[in-house]
Amino acid sequence: MARGHNRGSRAFAAGIVAALAAACAGPQSAIDPAGPVAESVATLWWVLFGGAAAILALVMGLVFYAMFRPPERRVKLPHVPFLIGAGLVFPTVVLTALLVYGTGVGRAIIAEAEAPLRVQVTGHQWWWEVHYPAQDGLPAFTTANELRLPVGRQVVFEIRSADVVHSFWIPNLGGKVDMIPGRTNVIRLEASRPGRFRAQCSEFCGAQHARMGFIAIAEEDADFTAWWRGRAVDSAGVDAPGRAVFEREGCVGCHAVAVTSRSLEAGPDGRAPTLSHFAGRPTVGAGAAPLFEQSLRAWLMDHGATMKPGSLGPQDRVIDDEATLDALVAYLEGLR
Ligand code: CUA
Repeated sequence: MARGHNRGSRAFAAGIVAALAAACAGPQSAIDPAGPVAESVATLWWVLFGGAAAILALVMGLVFYAMFRPPERRVKLPHVPFLIGAGLVFPTVVLTALLVYGTGVGRAIIAEAEAPLRVQVTGHQWWWEVHYPAQDGLPAFTTANELRLPVGRQVVFEIRSADVVHSFWIPNLGGKVDMIPGRTNVIRLEASRPGRFRAQCSEFCGAQHARMGFIAIAEEDADFTAWWRGRAVDSAGVDAPGRAVFEREGCVGCHAVAVTSRSLEAGPDGRAPTLSHFAGRPTVGAGAAPLFEQSLRAWLMDHGATMKPGSLGPQDRVIDDEATLDALVAYLEGLR
C-alpha cells in the first residue's frame, strides 16, 4: 500500500515536472530560444533561477534548523565569523559574479554583426507597420502585421511609435525594446532556426494591448528573398471585381493596397495597415485571430468591434449584406 502510494506520488511529481517543462516551450516563450541573443538571455535566466533557488533552499534549511532543532543539539558556530562570512562575503561574491556575468551578456547581445539586415518597425494602436528599406539590391517595401527574417543573419530593427509607447518583443528571439514616439530605438536579433514565433506588444498601450501581436516567420535565405521579391510588387488581384465594392464601402480611404516603397508613418496611408498581399498574412486584426474566411468575415461585419473593440476604423458601421461581405472577403483573399 505504502509502495503504491509512493509510486503514485512519484508519477504525480513527474507529471508536474513534465507539465512545467512543456510550459517553457512554445512559439511565444523566452526560455525556448531560437537565436543566439535569446540563447544568452535564457542561459542567464536559468543561472539566476538556479542560483536563487539554491540560495533560497539553503536559507530555508537554516530557518527550519533554527526553528526545530532543540537548542542543546544545535551546532555552535562562532557568531562573528559566521555573520561576516554568510552575511557579507557570500552575498558580495555572489552578486559581483552575477553582475560581471550579466554585464558581459548585456554587452554581447547588443554587438552589431557585419552586414546585418535592416528593418523598421513602427507601433500603432494596435498594429505593426513593417518597412523593409532597399538593400542587397532588393527594393524597399512596406507591409503590416507580418514580419519575416532570414535564418542565420542578424537583423537590426529600428523601432518607432506613431502614437503611444508600445514595446517590441519576439520572446523566442530575444529581449524587448520600447517603441517610443519621437525616438528610434534599436534591437539586434537573429534567428538560428526556421520557425514561426509569436510577437507581442509588451507595454500597456490601451484597450487592445493584449491583441497587439504578430507572427514572425524565420526562413531560409532563399525563401526569404523570394518572399521579399513577391512583396515588393503589387499583389495579384488588386483590380479584381471586388475592388469596386472595396472602393464603394470606403475601405480605400484608409487602407492602401498598392505596394508602397516608403515608410507609411508620415503619410495619410499610415492611418491603417496596408492591405497589400493581405492574404499571405497569418492573422487578421494584428494577431486578433488566425486568418481564415470566417475570422475575416467576422472582422468585416463590424470592422473589428466584436473582435477588437476600440480599434480605429468604422466600428459603428455594420455590414450585414451578404453580397457585400462575400465580395470583400473574396477581394481580400485574392490579394496574394
Ligand atoms: Cu502596443 Cu501594448
